[in-house]
Amino acid sequence: MSKITAAITGVGAYLPEYKLTNQILETMVDTNDEWITSRTGIKERRILKEEGKGTSFLAIKAAQDLIDKKGIDPKDIELVIVATATPDMKAASTAAFTATKIGAVNAFSFDLEAACSSFLFGMSVASSYIESGKYKNVLLIGADKNSSFINYKDRATCIIFGDGAGAVLFEPNHEGLGLQDELLKSNGEGREFLQATYGGSSYPITADTFQEGKQYIFQEGKTVFKNAVFNMADVTKRILERNNLTHNDISWLAAHQANKRIIEATANRVAVDPEKVMMNIHKYGNTTSATLPLLLHDYESQLKKGDKIIFAAFGGGFTWGSIYFKWAYNS
Ligand code: UT7
Repeated sequence: MSKITAAITGVGAYLPEYKLTNQILETMVDTNDEWITSRTGIKERRILKEEGKGTSFLAIKAAQDLIDKKGIDPKDIELVIVATATPDMKAASTAAFTATKIGAVNAFSFDLEAACSSFLFGMSVASSYIESGKYKNVLLIGADKNSSFINYKDRATCIIFGDGAGAVLFEPNHEGLGLQDELLKSNGEGREFLQATYGGSSYPITADTFQEGKQYIFQEGKTVFKNAVFNMADVTKRILERNNLTHNDISWLAAHQANKRIIEATANRVAVDPEKVMMNIHKYGNTTSATLPLLLHDYESQLKKGDKIIFAAFGGGFTWGSIYFKWAYNS
């Protein structure tokens, strides 16, 4: 019997309608379109405005898009993973709520949190369940409502992040397509450079701490930038080397969309041609766990069976990694 590999067999997405453009940000903080465009490549991001709607709202919509597109019965889904850094609530699983709402009543479900690497690490987890033969239908959703922890008076962060969700279905493949290799890393020394300090178990929010505003995301941009480029390039190079691949063999680089300059610098270090670099940061900003599935969604019509894709991500923690993947279908 041929070895089981874990392939992606469908993609769905959801983006809130409201567009927070650079021009609107100019009226909110001391910034301008030229600075944001030249430093980040971002032109606009989507924001979920409706009160009381959290990350599960985005996740449910993306999953429904996938279910409708593929015409699958949600009762056949065995596992739902929601990769997210912004769960709906503490204590209650966002994935459990999402699974029930989409009708995946036979699935078990859990959230997976690894900051901007959540979806990448989720690909590893989903694939392992498929490769082991334990499950045949695993739904992986990357969803984040970043606007829930952004201070819209802080120009260093509010220009970067957006809300959105993407979903993929993992199924067994017998042609050797899907996940080929992975190199995933973390280093807790990095957490001081990118975090939302208050609101977790170390520093619960009180009336006093709330005034300090440390419940919002903070980052030391330059340090994060340098670490992102160095580490994404490093793991990507190592993945290429150990799979005997050169940049010419690669069809696509799908890198976490945090900053256009980070993506270009990473691509440059591994010598991937610019036309092979997936890019949609100008439309959505940094959607944390949703960037990789949103890339797959936007590029799906251009992907061909057998295409060799290198995924790479870097995020808070620090967490990072690279995955070598073979695409399994033509659209
Ligand atoms: O996905 C998770 C990981 N996150 C990332 O990967 C983000 C990594 N970091 C970055 O993308 C970049 O560091 C930023 C986009 C956050 C900042 O870009 P930068 O080129 O590193 O700028 P900087 O922070 O060094 O700031 C340069 C100048 C400063 O002014 P002075 O001190 O030189 O007078 C800032 O105050 O730009 C100023 N500045 C702004 N000016 C206009 C900072 N933010 C803004 C702004 N508009 N929005």
